[in-house]
Amino acid sequence: MWVHRRPGWRLKESAATDESVYLNRRQLVAGIAAGSMLLPQAAQAQRVTDDPSAKLYPVKRNEKYKLDRPLTDEKEATTYNNFYEFGTSKSIVRAAQELKIRPWTLKIAGMVEKPFDIGIDDLLAKMPLEERLYRHRCVEAWAMAVPWSGFPLKALVDLAKPLGSAKYVVMTTFMDPSVAPGQKQFFYPWPYVEGLTVAEATNELAFIATGIYGKPMPKQNGSPLRLAVPWKYGFKSIKSIVKLEFSDKRPTSYWEAAQGSEYGFWANVHPAFPHPRWSQESERMLGTNERVPTQVFNGYGEFVGDLYKGLEKERLWA
Ligand code: MTE
Repeated sequence: MWVHRRPGWRLKESAATDESVYLNRRQLVAGIAAGSMLLPQAAQAQRVTDDPSAKLYPVKRNEKYKLDRPLTDEKEATTYNNFYEFGTSKSIVRAAQELKIRPWTLKIAGMVEKPFDIGIDDLLAKMPLEERLYRHRCVEAWAMAVPWSGFPLKALVDLAKPLGSAKYVVMTTFMDPSVAPGQKQFFYPWPYVEGLTVAEATNELAFIATGIYGKPMPKQNGSPLRLAVPWKYGFKSIKSIVKLEFSDKRPTSYWEAAQGSEYGFWANVHPAFPHPRWSQESERMLGTNERVPTQVFNGYGEFVGDLYKGLEKERLWA
């Protein structure tokens, strides 16, 4: 039986070091370690975009998805992360660079016509890439607004050809404790797993993000494939996916297994349903620290509200 330890995000926000202080400190340390302080600016930028899929970006923006707030600064969105495989702090950029993103194979498994594996570059060539501006709301009550590049999850579900009897899509993150030291912590239920109903996965908002800010996805944000389901708390948006499995059984997701009293399967955003230890009424925007009122379904009710008709008895909001 595993021993539960309090995850980092269970700290009160006020107990955390001021972001600008630790970011500066971390960037200084990372810069020295990588020798990048000696490199000219252009060479440093090149390191960040050194990904074989870089030539695919930027992709055309789909203007249908509008924001009600300014875009978050790129540096904030790509340096303040949750990626427990690489540590429980927000400063995992350097550790995440150990992740090898080529070769990268996505396994399509479970209740499909015929299981298959597909390499990331073959997948990217088949999928309809576009850019979408989405809000992202972490259960910890911070938020950002970012331009994701990627493709609708529905396009991948169509490629997978699930059987009519499949009810859930179960996604799994890579498992390799030799590159991801967090995975050596046996009290967390690795690998990271998340699930959606097939109806949620084929909703037009469900998106597989492969890039951000017109460039390939940085490793710390979940390269090369990560989910973006903006009406749900951010922990549903699983990073660095290696397997998509169709099932008729609801999966137990990572945070549900770690702390089921606080994190459930549906995890839809709602300001009136507090987390057991903090309010969800408002959120702090990364970068500006502005507090913004939280919206039901993170403001995406017109797209997804119908998915939950008849499910009112379920624990939809945590
Ligand atoms: N996926 C994996 N594999 N591991 C994680 O720790 N954290 C989740 C989600 N996906 C996480 C993950 C949480 S809690 C959030 S808020 C978002 O990733 C953060 O995404 P970002 O770092 O790109 O902002």
